[in-house]
Amino acid sequence: MDKLRIRGGRPLEGEVRISGAKNAALPIMCAALLSAEPLSVTNVPRLMDTSTLTKLLGQLGVEVKRSDGRMVLQAKTISRPVAPYELVKTMRASVYVLGPLLARFGEARVSLPGGCAWGPRPVDLHIRGMQQLGAEVEIEHGYIVARCDKLKGATLSFEISSVGATGNILMAAAMAQGKTIIENAACEPEIEALAEFLASMGVGIEGVGTSRLAVTGTDRLHPADASMIPDRIEAGTFLAAAAMTGGDVEVTSVTPGHLDAVIGKLEEAGADVLVHERSVRVRAPERLNPLRVTTAPYPGFPTDMQAQFMALLSIASGTSTITDTIYQDRFTHVAELQRLGADIRVEGNTATIHGVPSLSGAPVMATDLRASAALILAGLVAKSETRVSRIYHLDRGYERIEEKLQGLGAAIRRVRGA
Ligand code: UD1
Repeated sequence: MDKLRIRGGRPLEGEVRISGAKNAALPIMCAALLSAEPLSVTNVPRLMDTSTLTKLLGQLGVEVKRSDGRMVLQAKTISRPVAPYELVKTMRASVYVLGPLLARFGEARVSLPGGCAWGPRPVDLHIRGMQQLGAEVEIEHGYIVARCDKLKGATLSFEISSVGATGNILMAAAMAQGKTIIENAACEPEIEALAEFLASMGVGIEGVGTSRLAVTGTDRLHPADASMIPDRIEAGTFLAAAAMTGGDVEVTSVTPGHLDAVIGKLEEAGADVLVHERSVRVRAPERLNPLRVTTAPYPGFPTDMQAQFMALLSIASGTSTITDTIYQDRFTHVAELQRLGADIRVEGNTATIHGVPSLSGAPVMATDLRASAALILAGLVAKSETRVSRIYHLDRGYERIEEKLQGLGAAIRRVRGA
């Protein structure tokens, strides 16, 4: 298993180009299942998650060709509508095949994803949504087994804002008979991107980007083309790294509006933030101010930036709190940050972080994707060497992160098979 070795203490400086958004690419790739026509997408990040999904779609019978940054997917037909446990357990987003398989082929067997490092992550909203569109759904041997003749439009109201359930129902409703209304739909930019992509395939969608989506299904879907939106979480991670290390970094190829909540918190922490049309530059203050951060659905502060901000606040000039309202116990990174000298206490879904003047390098273990990023950020400021193991989590969601960090002056290298 690969490890990362980081020598802390260097400010990050320069420009870094942000990749396409993983969480937009995954549902959009699954939308290929809806049509026999080819779909073409550019700016798909090269990540473990996108290759896991390519493998799953390939097993289902989708032709996937990738060249020069373009991915062409075509689902002329499918072999078996099954998403097996072996793949779903490594990537929960595989559950996105449920809606399109059911809508087009009237049948799907998708493994239940199970929990993850920070606790249970249910898919009840996905299942109930499919039932409301007329599917029969049972749980058999750890699989969601869904069948229908033809899905029928309905009015759904999610009790919790869910990115995955909104995306899945959107894809199912795209081919359902009549109109589907989704109330309390997730408004995340990745859902907006999926809705726009479906609209470009010929699906009638009103309310794109709002919490009320009205979808008119169709069987006549046509070829479509899209470029992936920038990854706002990757961008936020680099901005936090710049602010923490006393650096000066410009993230390019971004949509600054998607980063408002993160930018707001960086400014409150004392960083100087310059927003341009397609880039954001952050210049760090002498020392960061403490913050109160509460995660919330978009446009609130993203739970996917919570761990990185915990690392940042661990060296701020006072006491901060972070409350995660999306995942109540997404705190596996705390114990590892403590190994680097951070002073953090967790009570319920709130972490209290007493800023310390400096961190000190140590071997630490990545426990999930964003926790890995937090450990790298902490390693970049820690004295002497930090070794981060289990970085396969990181490879799921960050494209060439160590190369990008090296480009900004960080002393970081990957040790293969260590
Ligand atoms: C997506 C993102 C993930 C991010 C999360 C929250 C992808 C591939 N992943 O995950 O990076 O951390 O949004 O922004 O886009 N819930 C239920 N029942 C369900 C579904 C969700 O109770 O059927 C709950 C979850 O436990 C959680 C909340 O709803 O508390 C939001 O989760 P959701 O938005 O669905 O997360 P994902 O789509 O899995």
